[in-house]
Amino acid sequence: MSLIQFPTGFLWGSATASYQVEGAWQEGGKGESIWDRFSHTPGKIQAGDTGDVACDHYHLWRDDIALMRALGLKAYRLSIAWPRILPTGHGKVNPVGLDFYSRLVDELLAAGIRPFVTLYHWDLPQTLQDRGGWPARSTAEAYVEYAEAVARRLGDRVHDWMTFNEPWVSAFMGYEWGIHAPGHSDRHEAFAAAHHLLLAHGWAVPVIHRDSPGSQVGIVLNLSPHHPASPSTADALAARLGDAKNNRWFLDPLVGRGYPEDLRDALGLSLDFVQSGDLAAIATPGDFLGVNYYTRTIHRSDAIPETANKPRTLFPNPNPTTMGWEVYPEGLYELLTRLKAEYPFPAYYVTENGAAYPDQVGADGQVDDPLRVAYLRAYFAQAARALAAGVPLRGYFVWSLMDNFEWAYGYSQRFGLVYVDYKTLHRTPKTSARWYSRVIRENAVEAD
Ligand code: FCB
Repeated sequence: MSLIQFPTGFLWGSATASYQVEGAWQEGGKGESIWDRFSHTPGKIQAGDTGDVACDHYHLWRDDIALMRALGLKAYRLSIAWPRILPTGHGKVNPVGLDFYSRLVDELLAAGIRPFVTLYHWDLPQTLQDRGGWPARSTAEAYVEYAEAVARRLGDRVHDWMTFNEPWVSAFMGYEWGIHAPGHSDRHEAFAAAHHLLLAHGWAVPVIHRDSPGSQVGIVLNLSPHHPASPSTADALAARLGDAKNNRWFLDPLVGRGYPEDLRDALGLSLDFVQSGDLAAIATPGDFLGVNYYTRTIHRSDAIPETANKPRTLFPNPNPTTMGWEVYPEGLYELLTRLKAEYPFPAYYVTENGAAYPDQVGADGQVDDPLRVAYLRAYFAQAARALAAGVPLRGYFVWSLMDNFEWAYGYSQRFGLVYVDYKTLHRTPKTSARWYSRVIRENAVEAD
C-alpha cells in the first residue's frame, strides 16, 4: 500500500473544549456559564443531559495527558473556561482557575505536547449574558480583560492562541435559532453578536502578542463549501447567500473587506452596531486561520415553489455520520485551496475534523471503529492534496480526543478517538486512536 507523506514537522493533534469535557461546573470558584444555565433548563438538551460532570477532565486531566502522550500526539487544542478565570466575567480574577490551566500547560509541555489554547469555546459567564451577552458591545470589552489575564499568566509557556471558536455558531445558533445557549431567537441580536465577537478578536490580537511574546494568534472558523442542489437560478442564489452568511460574513471583514453586501441587501440588515474604527480593528492581521471542517452544505431554495424550481438534483448521502452529516472529504481540498486563493493567511490549521459513529464496547472490551478510520484517512488524504497544491497547512487536530458532551445532542454523539464510559468515566482508546498513532509516527497516511 502506498503512503502519502506529510511535511516534516506537520503538527498532528486532537481537540476538546472546556464545557464539553471538564465537568466540575461549580468547583474551584468557577462562575456559572451560559451553557450551565442552558443545559439546566428543561427541554434544551437531548435526554436532559448536562455538562455538570462530562468527562470529569477537571479531575482526570493527568490521566488524559498520559493518554495523549501514549498516543504520540504532537499538539493538543484545549479551551479555557472564562468563568473559571473571571467568575463574573470581568473584575476579580480567580487564581484557582488560572492555576488549573497553568498546571495543565506544564504537564502538556513535560509530555512533549504543544498546547494550542482557545480562549472562547462558547461558555460565556452568565453574568455577562445578564448584561446583554454578545449583542452588547461591553462583552467585547470584557473579553479583552479576560484575554489579558490569561495571556499574562500562560503567555510565557503557551505560544499558540486562538481567540474564538466558530463565532458563526455562537452568533446564529445562540441568538438567531435558539438551539444553543443562550437560546435567543432574534436576527438583529445575532448579527450584533457576530460583530462583537469579531471585534473582540481584533482587539485581543495585539494584547495577546504583547503578553505572550513570539506567539502566534488566530481565530477558528467553521467553514464549509456551499453547493446548490441543482443548477437552477434559485438554488444557485440560495447557495451564494449561504456562503455569504457562513463563510464570507466572517472571512471578508477579517481580511479587511468589510461585510458582504449581497447578504446585507438580501436580508435588509441594519448594521447600526458598527462604529467607526471597528472594521479596521477586526482586520488586525492574525498569524493563522483555524479551519473547522466536517461536511458541505447543500442549498435547496425555498424562495419559489418547488414545481418552478427545476431541475431537482438530489445529492445522495448514503453513509451519513450519526450527526446526519455527509462524509465529503473533497470539500476540505475545495475549502483550503479557495482560502489560499481568496483569503491568504500566513498559515492554516485544520483545528477540528472528525466524525460521530455509534461506537460500542465489544465483548473483548475493545472499541472497533473502522468507519472513523476510513473517514479520517479520506480527509487526511485531501489535506495532503491541498498541501501539494501549495496551501500552507501546518497541522491537523482531530475532533475529538475523547467522546464528550455534544452540545444540544448531549452524550448521544461519540466523536472521540477514545471511548468514554459515562457511568464509570473509564477511557478506552478506539481502533482509530491506534491507527492515528501510527499516522503520527510515520507522518504519513495510506493512499486509498
Ligand atoms: C464544532 C464544535 C465542537 C464540536 C464539533 C462536533 O462545531 O466546535 O465543539 O461540537 O462541532
